[in-house]
Amino acid sequence: MSRPGSPVCTPDWLALREPADHTARACDLADRLADRLGAWPGARDVVVRDLGCGTGSMGRWLAPRLARPQRWVLQDRDADLARRAAAATPVPATAVVGDLADLDTLAGTDVLVCSALLDLLTAPDVERLARLCADAGCAALLTLSVTGAVALDPVDPLDDDVTAAFDAHQRRDGLLGPDAPDVAAAAFARHGYAVHRGPSPWRLGPADAALAEEWLRGRVDAACAQEPALVGSAERFLARRLDALGAGGLHAEVGHADLLALPGTVR
Ligand SMILES: C[S@@+](CC[C@H](N)C(=O)[O-])C[C@H]1O[C@@H](n2cnc3c(N)ncnc32)[C@H](O)[C@@H]1O
Repeated sequence: MSRPGSPVCTPDWLALREPADHTARACDLADRLADRLGAWPGARDVVVRDLGCGTGSMGRWLAPRLARPQRWVLQDRDADLARRAAAATPVPATAVVGDLADLDTLAGTDVLVCSALLDLLTAPDVERLARLCADAGCAALLTLSVTGAVALDPVDPLDDDVTAAFDAHQRRDGLLGPDAPDVAAAAFARHGYAVHRGPSPWRLGPADAALAEEWLRGRVDAACAQEPALVGSAERFLARRLDALGAGGLHAEVGHADLLALPGTVR
């Protein structure tokens, strides 16, 4: 939910996707970040700020991988989610309720992280984040941004129409949608960062049927909202896809990208 009126991220949806997110994340980028932090002199706590934290999935995955004492600041504009996140983070953590548009400094933050957030933002939002990071000299690990690359097996004659309508919906009102990884990489590079990119696709099979069903339903709903002429054929598409899923015969690869942006100077 990056604009009032856009879909709300419910705790149920976030819990359903968390295992697939954790499997998908680009471990090599987290390891590279841990190496950079490990090179710091002294033993002070690393301060990590998770923007759009949801229920705190990122902290549960990343905190054990950073071999340093840490403190996390978990920010979401949804107060309930931010509180849930702080209560379920395995290191000392504080909840902050607020929209990232109101953030005017990252002073005191060593690492900015986000997960499944960038595609919900606009290019000016991302440019602002890159500038705030550069001003503070902090590193950034920006994960699970959709790329728009979706492959379903078996293929279906309506795949391309649904994909086109879904991607257009993601880009509505200036939101980045599948452009997020490229736009963010360019913004951080402009601010002098070394940007490393890694793939983090969901690979969903019969064992992920509950997540795949919710994902398919959301995808078709968004496609129809964008392209109302699709409604009838998209309902039949969804029925075919859910039949295949129920029979254990559907696989989906859903493209995401992770970015690690490291400032030039070791802090
Ligand atoms: C797709 S969810 C991802 C949640 C979590 N990071 C995860 O990976 O499970 C996006 C989250 O970003 C939050 N969010 C979206 N736009 C935001 C904004 N402009 N400011 C603060 N939080 C925002 C939503 O409330 C939601 O919790």
